[in-house]
Amino acid sequence: MTVKYDVKDLGLAAEGLKRIEWADNDMPVLRMVRERFAKEKPLAGYRMSACLHITTETANLARALQAGGAELALCASNPLSTQDDNAASLVKDFGISVFAIKGEDRDTYYRHMNTALDIKPNVTMDDGADLVSLLHSTRKDLAGNIVASMEETTTGVIRLRAMEKDNILKFPVIAVNDAQCKHFFDNRYGTGQSTIDGVIRATDHLIAGKKVVVCGYGWCGKGVASRVRGLGANTIVTEINPIRAIEATMDGFWVMPMAEAAKLGDIFITVTGNMHVIRQEHFDVMKDGALVCNSGHFNVELDLETLEKTAKSKRPKVREFVDEYTLKNGHRIQVLGEGRLINLAAAHGHPASVMDMSFAVQALATEWAIKNRSKLDNRVHDVPTSIDEWVAALKLESMGIGIDTLTAEQVKYLSSHDMGT
Ligand SMILES: NC(=O)c1ccc[n+]([C@@H]2O[C@H](COP(=O)([O-])OP(=O)(O)OC[C@H]3O[C@@H](n4cnc5c(N)ncnc54)[C@H](O)[C@@H]3O)[C@@H](O)[C@H]2O)c1
Repeated sequence: MTVKYDVKDLGLAAEGLKRIEWADNDMPVLRMVRERFAKEKPLAGYRMSACLHITTETANLARALQAGGAELALCASNPLSTQDDNAASLVKDFGISVFAIKGEDRDTYYRHMNTALDIKPNVTMDDGADLVSLLHSTRKDLAGNIVASMEETTTGVIRLRAMEKDNILKFPVIAVNDAQCKHFFDNRYGTGQSTIDGVIRATDHLIAGKKVVVCGYGWCGKGVASRVRGLGANTIVTEINPIRAIEATMDGFWVMPMAEAAKLGDIFITVTGNMHVIRQEHFDVMKDGALVCNSGHFNVELDLETLEKTAKSKRPKVREFVDEYTLKNGHRIQVLGEGRLINLAAAHGHPASVMDMSFAVQALATEWAIKNRSKLDNRVHDVPTSIDEWVAALKLESMGIGIDTLTAEQVKYLSSHDMGT
């Protein structure tokens, strides 16, 4: 197979390789999958197009899939999340086709996605359902080849479920995000830590004593809120779901509508998967110097289009990942990472240890979908519980943590209705 690529600079490969190996040190479960795949070749003969953040953790997933026998083409699931040294190493050291450059413009981003699809995949992998969208619009001709598609994130699963509801899905998709070993840990602890990492790298600001507004108290929001609180911030949560709002209140956060929080916050972080969560009416009442960023999947959570039109002036790149807008009232709003996922734009995304579980699930779900291809209909399927349990057990083992097992008496008690009263 010929390796094709469009990456920034193959000369960066040596640095990328060191970082891929560093991440691999912290991905023991995925490594076990890779070693088994290398022996059993469960993906032999399959062509896979994967649209994921091109990070060192993704590189290790790609190594596992390649070891399993898959022919791979990778492209980015966000124009700012590619790590160029890592992309170079994937091409040069591992012979994997990659089409991704950090900071690529919209046309290049879509061209890269289309090029990754040119291998005529039988399996696709998405982080945000972009490949699936193309396979249902401009690349419909390729949809008939697809055995299954894996989806990594909440926003992608929401889109796919909407397609399922409208009865238009052309092939089965697997909701990898919904596996417990994915969203319990990756969305909460991964996004929690890496989002703060992104804010700090972009600004060098102190978090302690700041008023930080976290919009959305889902899996990601819980992680972000608990981490900023740990750094000493006064943390405010905004929500639209009453149950999650109570949860945030009882977890000890201030909860209030965005209209009130906008006046108080020093730093705003959106993680809702929704659009225009922070709008002009909110920018207009913010303090001078307020920092605004997003860690939800798409760059639609902040209404930057309106801000761009209504601001008196804009100073792009006052720092590498900061654009400063001056409003008509003279207040400056600092927008981080162009409103794109700040943890991947300004930092390196989730730590390898947590992606170990997410990507072990991805690899095993791919193997499962291929094995069960004749039984899967064109809807959104959950990852089997057995995969979740296997990944969790091995992760615990790798952490040197043992847990109890049920005694025979306990098994009987838990399955009976007449004991212990
Ligand atoms: N940055 C990353 O690396 C990363 C990682 C995983 C997921 N994500 C993305 O983060 C987003 C959130 O994911 P999640 O798993 O936490 O989803 P989730 O569904 O668990 O939580 C989203 C929360 O936002 C709330 N919400 C919706 N609209 C709102 C609004 N207008 N104001 C306030 N709250 C609102 C919802 O009620 C919900 O509680 C998704 O787009 C997901 O794809 C990003």
